[in-house]
Formats: sequence, structure tokens, C-alpha cells
Amino acid sequence: MRHHFTRALTGWFQGPWPWALLAATRNQYLLPLASPVTALHHFRRNHFALAGVCGLFCDMAFRIHDSVVGGQIIRATEADLPVISNLAGVIWRACYPSIITREQIDYMLARMYALETMRGEIQSQGIRYERLLVGNEFIGFASHGPTEQPAVFKLHKIYLHPDWQGRGLGSLLLQHCEREAGMLGARRLILAVNKRNTKAIATYQRNGFVITESVVTDIGNGFVMDDYIMAKNLP
Ligand SMILES: CC(C)(COP(=O)(O)OP(=O)(O)OC[C@H]1O[C@@H](n2cnc3c(N)ncnc32)[C@H](O)[C@@H]1OP(=O)(O)O)[C@@H](O)C(=O)NCCC(=O)NCCS
Repeated sequence: MRHHFTRALTGWFQGPWPWALLAATRNQYLLPLASPVTALHHFRRNHFALAGVCGLFCDMAFRIHDSVVGGQIIRATEADLPVISNLAGVIWRACYPSIITREQIDYMLARMYALETMRGEIQSQGIRYERLLVGNEFIGFASHGPTEQPAVFKLHKIYLHPDWQGRGLGSLLLQHCEREAGMLGARRLILAVNKRNTKAIATYQRNGFVITESVVTDIGNGFVMDDYIMAKNLP
């Protein structure tokens, strides 16, 4: 046992590590002893180093806070579409039974969230999907894209898992979409929302959207979408 320990210790001293350690700690321990002036410089340098380290930790803490509490928004790729479609099913079945019938939910999910449909939106309609993550958990998504009118974009979808609603994360995602659309040239963002979806309407109003129209759209199979069109001018 002793033999192993001695061998490990002599091996360590024969390697580069003691010299690296000496070089790293030289300024720390030896220089301040040379003169008061050097000691002062040493203190100042370490002071700044300390501030730098504190800054780094603060920055890390804020990043962790943002990703854990504030959520992180990442552009979705086509590979993400299956998980988006699954999450849509979970959210619609939890949130919409008080607004539309279960038959209409199934019908609309099948129409709007078929992978082919979503792929087509990305590939040929300029629609972007954004994913909202809290930590590593995928908890919501939104999609937006251009319309036939110049500088007018449409927010097609915005959905949060029920466990994460009512914490300001929907607004975070909405504001992200506004910024993204703005960067793509939008001056106005429009959306359609079911007239009975009071919670979503309140979120949009809180974020500066106003009701501009009331529309009833026949979507086939005896179903209609009874919506308000809401709009917001972007800065
Ligand atoms: C509509 C939806 C996206 C809104 O997202 P949300 O996170 O629930 O809504 P908000 O961002 O407006 O959350 C605000 C609420 O969180 C509270 N809140 C807590 N912390 C907050 C914060 N840091 N910032 C803002 N609000 C905060 C607010 O007080 C507000 O509560 P209130 O409604 O009781 O006044 C979401 O509810 C949802 O996915 N609904 C089901 C699907 C749906 O209807 N989608 C819309 C289709 S058109």
C-alpha cells in the first residue's frame, strides 16, 4: 500500500503538474512578498479577477434562471414536428372540450396537425414553428408566417401545456413571435381565436391585440370555426 502511494507521489512530481501549480500560484503567494507596491498591484489584480468571477457567476445564475423559470424559445425543425403534433393533442383534449365538441377536436387535430400538413406549411408557406422549453421540458409551441397582404403576418398557433399556463409564459412566446415576425418584415400581426376562448382573448388583449372582425368559417363535416380576428400593429 505504502509502495503504491510513494510511486504515485514520485510519479506526480516527475510530471509537469508541480511546475504548472507553481506557475499558477506564483503571483498569488510569492509576488506580494516582494514589495508593498507589488502587493498593491497584486491586490488590485485579484480584486478585478474576483469581480470577473462574481460577474461570471451572476451571468450563469441569470442564464439558468431564464432557462428554468423564463423558458427558452427555439426554432423547430421538421424533426420536431411529431412531438409538436403530440403536444397539440394533449393541450387540445385538455383545454377545448368546454369550447368545441370532442368530435370537432379530433377532426381539427387530424386536419391541422398531420405531419404532411405541417411539413407543407414549413416548406412552401414560409411558416415557422417555435418551441418553448422550460429546462429540458418541451412545454409549448407557436407558429407564424406571412399572409397574402404585404407586411401582415399571422400567428397561426400558440399552445402551452395546461401545467404551465397562467404564468406569463404564453405572453413570452407571443412576444417572441411578434419580434420574429417584425424581423421578417411584418408591420401587423393578426390571429383568429374562438369567441368562447376567453382566456386566450384576455392574453391577446393584455398584449395589445384588439378585435377587428367576427368570422364564421365552414371547415367541412358539419363543423364551423366561430372566431374573432384580432390584430396588433408592430413597432
Ligand atoms: C392562451 C395561452 C397561450 C396563454 O398563455 P398563458 O401563459 O396562460 O397566458 P399569459 O402569458 O397571459 O399568462 C398570464 C397569467 O399569468 C400570470 N402571471 C404569472 N406570472 C407572470 C409573469 N411573469 N408575467 C405575466 N403574467 C404572469 C398573470 O397574472 C396572468 O394571470 P391571469 O390570467 O389570471 O390574469 C395558454 O393559456 C394556452 O395555451 N391555452 C390553451 C390553448 C389556447 O387556447 N391557445 C390559443 C389558441 S387561439
